[in-house]
Amino acid sequence: MAESVGTPDVRAMPGGGGWQVPLPADPEAVAAKAMEQYERHAGAALARLMRFLGACTLEWEARGALVRDVHGREYVDCGGHGMFFHGHCHPKVVEAVRRQAARMGQSTRLLLHLPQAELAERLAAVCPGDLQYSFFCNSGTEAVEGALKLARAATGRTGVIAAHGAFHGKTLGALSASGKALYRDPFRPLVPEFFHVTYGDAAALDGAAASVAAGPGGLAAVILEPIQGEAGAVVPPPGYLAAARAVCDRHGALLILDEVQTGIGRTGTMFACEAEGVVPDILATAKSLGGGVMPIGAFTARPECWRVFDENPFLHSSTFGGGPLACAAALAALDAIETEGLLQRAASLGNMLGQALQDMARRHGAAIAAVRGRGLLWGIELHGEGLGGMMLSHLIDAGVLVVHSLNQHRVLRVMPPAVISEPQLALVLEALDQAAGATAAMADELLSARE
Ligand SMILES: Cc1ncc(COP(=O)(O)O)c(C=O)c1O
Repeated sequence: MAESVGTPDVRAMPGGGGWQVPLPADPEAVAAKAMEQYERHAGAALARLMRFLGACTLEWEARGALVRDVHGREYVDCGGHGMFFHGHCHPKVVEAVRRQAARMGQSTRLLLHLPQAELAERLAAVCPGDLQYSFFCNSGTEAVEGALKLARAATGRTGVIAAHGAFHGKTLGALSASGKALYRDPFRPLVPEFFHVTYGDAAALDGAAASVAAGPGGLAAVILEPIQGEAGAVVPPPGYLAAARAVCDRHGALLILDEVQTGIGRTGTMFACEAEGVVPDILATAKSLGGGVMPIGAFTARPECWRVFDENPFLHSSTFGGGPLACAAALAALDAIETEGLLQRAASLGNMLGQALQDMARRHGAAIAAVRGRGLLWGIELHGEGLGGMMLSHLIDAGVLVVHSLNQHRVLRVMPPAVISEPQLALVLEALDQAAGATAAMADELLSARE
């Protein structure tokens, strides 16, 4: 494990404690057995990575921004790939799921049910513009997959333009839109007629759209993240989304915005596209939609795109998608955002976090190349992947969980829940500062050893 960096004591934090599940009598044995089970049956690579990061432990219980492990150690969770906008075990979400589970856990899939009806109406109310019809699924990649299928069926065209660095999921369709060779190459040939352009470059998008639209399959859709999460919280230049909207309109193509990571409050508004006043034709959501308790994804479309699904309601379907438990969780999650003012909280905590990270980048330039983000989605770009691993390990040791970016390992993402308390956030910042300092010192040492 990395040397301690002056650990903030998360146990002293407001919101800490209140744990309900007793710790095991022999945590070492429980953790060692699980590591071995992972190694033998879930893949040795994961266990190896955790050992490398000095995290030979298991998560045990979680509440709000806090997680405690099998040894009783507590961590402030700013990771979770962005799914914990509500923190862990939000009481309203847990209660809604508990009530629904006692009543009816799964749908007959013949009869209709209330939680899905209410959630579809609720999502239409919180989505921008006339996004009105939703299909529910179980993950982000399924939401993107469905959005791509809908775009092809609705337009009768096949071409799709996506961005380099994009992350849309790992099923074959979503992977075809994703922009990282590492995850794409072993699975070629992917779905044909997917083209990639530089993210944030409106002129490049315009040129590619003209050429794909003139091709044999035509241009069905442009798919973009309003902020690229897994590429390392990459924020496009102002006006980029509006330019993408105009390009799509010019060619009669659909704009799909993938808000799986940025949506449901993460960037300080319900959807990140609201910051530019851009309304897509299809919006994909997942992650925090389940309130940090249930897996659920959705794609929501304008009426004119949806028509093709009304002609045949079984064109796209899912056994589990839109199940009553997940819908009940999502309804409670959307309720909590409204009644607890979580969007405003995310925006103001996000400003605080952003400013602190920018200060930190100035102070620890030997380790940090850049910081960027919005709301509660921030990326810290280190000068190298090795430094990213080092800083991550320091942070785990200090009781703070952040996450690397799948498409850019040099960038650590800091994604606290909107329910994090100010003292908890202050401790996260202190731990980040110390970990960045220790990483910068190590970077200096490595440099001078090389000279
Ligand atoms: C923007 C975006 N789209 C899609 C996905 C895929 O979601 P999932 O992992 O739930 O399939 C992710 C996951 O990180 C994402 O960030």
